[in-house]
Amino acid sequence: MTTADSPGPLVSTSPVRISIVGTGSLGLAFSAALARAGHLVTLMGRPGSAGDLLERGHIEVSGRLNFSVPAGAAPARPGQVSVAEGARDLTLADAVLFTTKGPDLPAAIEEVARHWPGQHTEQTFVAGVQNGVVKDELLAEAFGAPAVVGAATVLGSRRLSCGAVSVSGLGTTFFGEFNAPTSARTERVRAAFVGAGLPCAVVADIRVLLWAKFCNAIGVFGVSAVTGLSSGEIFARRPLALAYRSLLEEAASVAASEGVEIADFPDLPMRSYLEPSPDDWATDMARRALPAGDAPPGFSSMVQDLAAGRRTEIEETFGDLLRRARAQGTEVPRAEFVYRLISGLEPSPSGPREARRPSVDG
Ligand SMILES: NC(=O)c1ccc[n+]([C@@H]2O[C@H](COP(=O)([O-])OP(=O)(O)OC[C@H]3O[C@@H](n4cnc5c(N)ncnc54)[C@H](OP(=O)(O)O)[C@@H]3O)[C@@H](O)[C@H]2O)c1
Repeated sequence: MTTADSPGPLVSTSPVRISIVGTGSLGLAFSAALARAGHLVTLMGRPGSAGDLLERGHIEVSGRLNFSVPAGAAPARPGQVSVAEGARDLTLADAVLFTTKGPDLPAAIEEVARHWPGQHTEQTFVAGVQNGVVKDELLAEAFGAPAVVGAATVLGSRRLSCGAVSVSGLGTTFFGEFNAPTSARTERVRAAFVGAGLPCAVVADIRVLLWAKFCNAIGVFGVSAVTGLSSGEIFARRPLALAYRSLLEEAASVAASEGVEIADFPDLPMRSYLEPSPDDWATDMARRALPAGDAPPGFSSMVQDLAAGRRTEIEETFGDLLRRARAQGTEVPRAEFVYRLISGLEPSPSGPREARRPSVDG
């Protein structure tokens, strides 16, 4: 069950105080849209990136949204994105939303937990939009489980340069309580997102949503990282669509062993992907695939990270899935094979990568 609204013209809701961690694709898009709608937004970046953004003085959003908002120094004030160079400058917020990549999340959490006043009340929360389910465990370890709201997004955004972001798809952002169908704090943030022109839904079964998104990521990341193709091309080519489907099935079997039955959500029809026979499903996907040229190709973040020589989110996605599968005794041979391939394509670290979780081999 979801409560959702589509974005219409900007609507005014009572302002929320929100701190967003990470001046990348999602951090820029969310903070700019929310600030434009009158909310009190602090955007926390690493010192170099935050300093560059302050120097630039504004955030420019293009693509499906087109506007610019000023970016100035913290503390938060209406009408601008207030940029914090590290957690010391964060002021008390109703919500702290982490938008770092998965491998950077533990350090970001540690910094925020050290400095954030963090006077947790029933109205305040922390959340992360990283793929997978391990992020909420990390947040709960640092801030306590009652402070954590589940979150995920299908919004498509890409940072073009410091302070410039392109929004390619206005996919839904989801929030949900782990122990209640809804709450004042999730409804408030939903209203703020929708009022800011960002589709948003509160999900009663957020664990199911997070697993549905996780399963999709396993399929898309796996096939796209190995082939280098866009998601559109993968679904249009039957053998690749079937490869995606087999990874999806493996991930869904791990979810099932965790007591989660995958369901359909707006922009994430994963149950409908799993129900038909693989052959029928692949035929349907190929039929529905957009003819080449009708839409810009959407490359997964895994493909983009590999192409740019950046660390990927392999440990937080495939690595975490494999650890859960091993603990359950669930066989996931395809996911294991893909994990090995992608791990082997990762750039060699200049030093040992700091991992909050042991690697699958370890
Ligand atoms: N972009 C999308 O369309 C999309 C959609 C759905 C889900 N996601 C997921 O959302 C997460 C974020 O994606 P993204 O595309 O926004 O990533 P991104 O563009 O790489 O941005 C991540 C940002 O986090 C910053 N950061 C890292 N450590 C930090 C710290 N300790 N304190 C403050 N900032 C820190 C990085 O800083 P620097 O700039 O200094 O490196 C970077 O600006 C990923 O897990 C991704 O898989 C993304």
